[in-house]
Amino acid sequence: MNSYNIAVVPGDGIGQEIVPEGMRVMDFLTERLDFGLDYTSFPYSAQHYKETGEFMPPDALQQLKHYDAIYFGAIGHPDVDDTLPATRYTFRVRKGFHQYVNYRPVKLIPGVPGPLRNAKAEEVDFVIVRENTEGEFSETGNIVMPDTPQGFALQTSIFTRTGVERIAHYAFQLARKRKYHVTNVTKSNTLIHSLVYWDQLIAEVHQQYPDVKYEKMYVDNASATFVLNPQHFDVILTTNMIGDILSDLGAALMGSLGLGPSGNINPERDYPSMFEPIHGSAPDIAFKGIANPVSAIWSGGIMLDHLGENEAGDAVQKAIFAALQDKKNWPADLGGTASTTKVTDAILKALDYV
Ligand code: NAI
Ligand code: MG
Repeated sequence: MNSYNIAVVPGDGIGQEIVPEGMRVMDFLTERLDFGLDYTSFPYSAQHYKETGEFMPPDALQQLKHYDAIYFGAIGHPDVDDTLPATRYTFRVRKGFHQYVNYRPVKLIPGVPGPLRNAKAEEVDFVIVRENTEGEFSETGNIVMPDTPQGFALQTSIFTRTGVERIAHYAFQLARKRKYHVTNVTKSNTLIHSLVYWDQLIAEVHQQYPDVKYEKMYVDNASATFVLNPQHFDVILTTNMIGDILSDLGAALMGSLGLGPSGNINPERDYPSMFEPIHGSAPDIAFKGIANPVSAIWSGGIMLDHLGENEAGDAVQKAIFAALQDKKNWPADLGGTASTTKVTDAILKALDYV
């Protein structure tokens, strides 16, 4: 039997509520299928920073490195400087472990009402492949003489040949397992250095995948196309910041941010990958028992798939779709009344049938 060591980082706010729900679903699967999960919990969070002065200890990556995967909630607290969660935790893990792929599926769930009046659920099924370690979220820059009339700020985006080529290869290879269509969402008509180079490198990589249809689309047009013609997309290949923004839009098309799963993936498997909802710690609804756990549960399914437990990963997605057929299992963000645990109960029940 395969058994996996999972580092669990619930983080802050609703992360504390929805990560245990994902673990309930995965535990259920380990009882039914032939694999095991061994969890170790880590307190890394803004709350932990408030209590101890650090998000995580200096040797945290050395510790996490030994796990097969990291199952993460979200991080960020209203009382804590909001530049710290990313720089002290999320970026450190994503960059330190070369999780250069941020994999974010957007798939309409049949029967779940989204904001798109005319979209057929079966037709809207695409993946945002977001570059996850450089680009606009490179931490290079400065705020100079901020309190003077001459004050200015600058922040440099970094696009390296290695960084762009590797994410492009991932996107084209993923398209070969899907509908053979890659859309590079860019803004090279105005970011005339960084994204011109980005486009050039992607076009070069495309030469090695002549069987995959490749196109370029500017992000302004892409955001309109998300709403007006989302069935157009298969694999979207885009930069760190554009992917961050478009993936919230993608989850909104599905009906709620609480439905959006993701994986921060190191395809070479030299380091653990990290799986987390696309949303944040949602302090506005935290600790009320009403957060939608689907984003976390589905992220767990993607983690199981990544670990090679494909039957379990498939079952998670099918059970989510089945449970959400029934309005009484909808949480508040979908307009329903089901509590966080009730949504999970329904998914567990659906798992019995898939
Ligand atoms: P957010 O994603 O936490 O929340 C945005 C809105 O969506 C809120 O109204 C929230 O209630 C709702 N929402 C999000 N997830 C939901 C769920 N599962 N069920 C029901 N409703 C849900 O974004 P916001 O408010 O901009 O950020 C809050 C904190 O989270 C900040 O400190 C931010 O820095 C942090 N953050 C952390 C991320 C991470 O850990 N990867 C990602 C994004 C934000
Ligand atoms: Mg985001």
